[in-house]
Amino acid sequence: MKPGDSLMRHYLQFKDFRAEEYAYLFERASIIKRRFKNYERYQPLADRTLAMIFEKASTRTRVSFEAGMYQMGGSVVHLTTGDSQLGRAEPIEDSARVISRMVDLVMIRTFEQTKIERFAAHSRVPVINGLTNEYHPCQILADLFTFIEQRGMDRRGVIDLDCLKGRVVAWVGDGNNMANTWLQAAEILGFTVHVSTPSGYEIDPAVAGIKNASCYKVFKDPLEACRGADLVTTDVWTSMGYEAENEARRTAFADWCVDAEMMAVAKPDALFMHCLPAHRGEEVSAEVIDGPQSAVWDEAENRMHVQKALMEYLLLGRIG
Ligand code: CP
Ligand code: NVA
Repeated sequence: MKPGDSLMRHYLQFKDFRAEEYAYLFERASIIKRRFKNYERYQPLADRTLAMIFEKASTRTRVSFEAGMYQMGGSVVHLTTGDSQLGRAEPIEDSARVISRMVDLVMIRTFEQTKIERFAAHSRVPVINGLTNEYHPCQILADLFTFIEQRGMDRRGVIDLDCLKGRVVAWVGDGNNMANTWLQAAEILGFTVHVSTPSGYEIDPAVAGIKNASCYKVFKDPLEACRGADLVTTDVWTSMGYEAENEARRTAFADWCVDAEMMAVAKPDALFMHCLPAHRGEEVSAEVIDGPQSAVWDEAENRMHVQKALMEYLLLGRIG
């Protein structure tokens, strides 16, 4: 990608890509994963550099992007608010102008979505959202790939994106960045999200950024949201940045714990997912997250494979 290239794309929200681009990305992720498992060297990003900017904590996002970039032959620069001028009020626009003159790709984890949008508007290189208060597109990319791998691949290992059509995903918990991103994915890929949140923590369709209200259905009772679902998923009661609300949230969310009873009313082959980190006994029981329907470890591993496909796509376009 050259500076000013009109083909340059950012990945700031799930809806930045079309369904057919997701079909392509999942195909590539599958090929890239197979090569990794076979210890085949694949280094199309030699001499490319990824800058990772973290204004919030991370385990999976950091390891998956960093290991993925090294495996593809590139290198990584890791910045945090505490050890860069970002924490000393250098304008985000100036940081974007400078950092994007030295690297080929930037991944940012920050607070408001407007911050990453301002960075992207002044960046010469593609910018990836590694989580904001509003969205977590890389996580949903991994979650959908995991679902397709386990429920939508034919015997030859061919990805079938249509396997998502008409499916029901139950979202139990906070109307947060993960919930918003699930809604965007549902609208683009043709499934429905059954959303159950405590009152006061509902999703806001305007923030979620969806046009079509038919991609989700609201349930007061989390058990009813799970009934007949193909996938049951949840997240922490208190997201990063909202720690001051911790005590109030503990009380409000007490009935929004995904347990065996909720899994029992979902489809018999329903999967359980959680982006992690998880709190057993709060948003999910140990029995569910450590049980046979849980796909959480595959989900976490797949962050790396899908993000390798994403970085390849943003830097090299379609292969072949
Ligand atoms: N799921 C996820 O993004 O994990 P980290 O916060 O550890 O990066
Ligand atoms: N909703 C959580 C996701 C963590 C990966 C948060 O924003 O903290």
